[in-house]
Amino acid sequence: MSDLNPEQLGAASPLPYAIDPSAEGFTSLATVTYQHMNEQLALGYLKWQVFQREHIDNSQEAITRNAELSLDRAEGDQPRQALVLGAGNCIDIPVEHLASIFDQVTLVDVDPLAMQRGTAQLPKTAQDKVTLLRADVTGVMAGLTDSLQQLAHTHYPNYGRFVESAAQHLATVDPTDAQPDLGESYDFVCSQTTLTQLGMIPSQAFLYGALAEGSYGVVQAASDAQTQPIQEAFDALSAKLQTTHLDYLKKLVSTSGVIHLADYYAEALPDGNFRPIVQKEAGGKLQREFVPLNERREWYWRPTVMKDILVVSNAITPRQA
Ligand SMILES: C[S@@+](CC[C@H](N)C(=O)[O-])C[C@H]1O[C@@H](n2cnc3c(N)ncnc32)[C@H](O)[C@@H]1O
Repeated sequence: MSDLNPEQLGAASPLPYAIDPSAEGFTSLATVTYQHMNEQLALGYLKWQVFQREHIDNSQEAITRNAELSLDRAEGDQPRQALVLGAGNCIDIPVEHLASIFDQVTLVDVDPLAMQRGTAQLPKTAQDKVTLLRADVTGVMAGLTDSLQQLAHTHYPNYGRFVESAAQHLATVDPTDAQPDLGESYDFVCSQTTLTQLGMIPSQAFLYGALAEGSYGVVQAASDAQTQPIQEAFDALSAKLQTTHLDYLKKLVSTSGVIHLADYYAEALPDGNFRPIVQKEAGGKLQREFVPLNERREWYWRPTVMKDILVVSNAITPRQA
C-alpha cells in the first residue's frame, strides 16, 4: 500500500448524503465534537502513518476477508448489500474493494463530512455503488448531548452540581430499541472501531473537550474526585450502548450474513498491564450470543509513538436459538 497523501484530505468529488431522523436535532456542540474528532483522526493518520500503517493494513485485510466470506455464504440471488457503521474518514475501510464486490455499499456515520472526505477520491464506478447516510446508530445521542449541554448551562459555574445532575440524567438513558431502522438483510455488516466510541465520544466531549476548552467555564473546579460520578455514569451507559449495538448488528444482518466486528479492546499501560476499553458486559454478550466464523485476529494500533491499543477483529454471526 502506498503512503497516504495529505492532499487527499480535500474533497475532490464529494458524494451527496442523506440524513436519517436519528441525526436530526444535534446541537452544534455535538455535531462539531464528532467532526473535530474525525479531523484529528485523519490528521493523526497522516502525521503518524509510519506507526499506524500496521493498523490500517490489518483492518483493510480483515474487512476484505470477512466481506468475501459473506459473499461465499450468501444465499438467493438478490443484490448483494454491505453496510458500514461508523465509517468516518474510511481510512481503515477498503471502500473501493467493497464497491467492486457488492452491488450496494451503504456508509453510515454521525459525521457526513468525514465520509465525504473518505470517498471523494474513489473512481466513479465505485462512487456509483456507494451511498452515504448521516445517522446516529445509537438513536439517543441528540437528546443525550442536548440534555447535558442544558445541565451545564443550568449549573454553571457549579461543577459539582453539574456532575451530580449529569450522572443522574445519564442513568436514565435507555438505548434499547432506539436505533434507526436501516433494514435487516445485509449480507455484510461492518462495525470497525465504532462500538467503543459510542459512549466514549460524548464522554470526552463533556468531560475533557467542551469543558476543558472552557466553553462553560466550569472545568477549573474539576478534580478527579469530582469527575468520578460522571465517569462512572458514562461507563455504565457505555456498557448499555455496547450491548445494544450488538443486538442491533443481529437485526441488520441477513441469516446467512457476516458481521465484521473489530475494536479497540484494551490499552497497553506502561506498567505492562492493560486497561480494558470494550466493556465486560459486551465481551460476555459477544461470547454467549454470537458464533465465530473464522479465527479472531489481533494487532496493535499505535496512534502516536507512545501509545499502544490492542485491536481484536472477529467475523461473527448470531447464534441460532
Ligand atoms: C474510531 S472512528 C472509526 C475510524 C474511521 N473508520 C476512520 O477512517 O477514521 C469511529 C467512528 O464512529 C463514528 N461514530 C461514533 N458514534 C457514532 C454514532 N452514535 N452513530 C454513528 N457513527 C458514530 C464516529 O463519527 C467515527 O467516524
